[in-house]
Amino acid sequence: MDSELHPEYSVDDDQEIRLRPLSLQEFLGQDTVTSNLSVFIQAARSRAEALDHVFLNGPPGLGKTTLAGIMAHEMETEFRVTSAPALEKPKDLAGILTTLSPGSVFFIDEIHRLRPVLEEMLYTAMEDFELDWVIGQGPSARSVRIPVARFTLVGATTKAGSVSSPMHSRFGISVRLNLYSDDEIILILRRSASLMDIEVSDDALPLLAQCSRGTPRVANRILRRMRDFAQVLGDGRITVDTVRHGMQRLEIDSQGLERHDREILQTIIRNYNGGPVGAETLAISIGESVDTLEDFYEPYLIQRGFIQRTPRGRTVTNLAYEHLQMEAPSDADQRFLF
Ligand SMILES: Nc1ncnc2c1ncn2[C@@H]1O[C@H](COP(=O)(O)OP(=O)(O)O)[C@@H](O)[C@H]1O
Ligand SMILES: [Mg+2]
Repeated sequence: MDSELHPEYSVDDDQEIRLRPLSLQEFLGQDTVTSNLSVFIQAARSRAEALDHVFLNGPPGLGKTTLAGIMAHEMETEFRVTSAPALEKPKDLAGILTTLSPGSVFFIDEIHRLRPVLEEMLYTAMEDFELDWVIGQGPSARSVRIPVARFTLVGATTKAGSVSSPMHSRFGISVRLNLYSDDEIILILRRSASLMDIEVSDDALPLLAQCSRGTPRVANRILRRMRDFAQVLGDGRITVDTVRHGMQRLEIDSQGLERHDREILQTIIRNYNGGPVGAETLAISIGESVDTLEDFYEPYLIQRGFIQRTPRGRTVTNLAYEHLQMEAPSDADQRFLF
């Protein structure tokens, strides 16, 4: 992960937390998602019940953790946070479940990585609000049932396909977050700029948005980097010139592609004749894990129409050849006819 704009890169995390919206109203964009959630939250509140379990799915940096926190805030309940890789033993999970208060929002990030034995435990907790706990060993072992408060599980994943169907079916609410439109990113940039006291000229905003990969976390990071350029090289105000200059320095092009995105496209073109090439093979060629390729790089390349997923693998489109100013083979279009 060599990109400083990579969503998992976390130098600015304290600032990131400051920008995190606390209420649904501050959560900009994704209107269908927020208006539905708002109804479910209001309904649960008016019945004085816990919100139903919520499944959140989508690429990194789109607001899954933020939304989970907002749910706790709007329900005015406790917010407990963990991630599946941090839960090793049954007692790690039981320790949290048995200490939840009624209505608590319990957030498990990367829920697709939960170990099977913990998944089983979670099923009974989610459905029956109790745990089966085995005391002792061997012939004297016995099982006791421990009650669990009526809580809300919020499970987040970048890989919905890796979540087992018994797990997924236990969530009453399932939310898919897609990449944000440039207009939505502009709203988010405006909010962040005002919270950080950064002046951005109106015509610079669309340029910033274009370079943000449809991802709020990336948008906030770009904004901070442009502030650096504006402070050191200008009068502190982010203008079109700041953005043009800054993007060049960061090697981000007019389509928001970073150097590594371009390397991925070039690899498919040069080494695999434009594709199709399987994800595993491609990941090895570019020195990334399949997860990083699929979760971070591909959604944006696909959304912008540079890559297509076909049953036989990834293929670059004519748009990619044009953008990189490389010559497309004459049969480029036929590769999509399968
Ligand atoms: N809809 C939104 N409106 C405003 N800011 C957002 C929105 N979604 C995400 N953010 C910002 O982006 C950052 C990353 O969001 P986060 O919830 O950590 O993403 P995820 O958990 O999906 O990786 C947050 O700190 C927040 O500042
Ligand atoms: Mg998160």
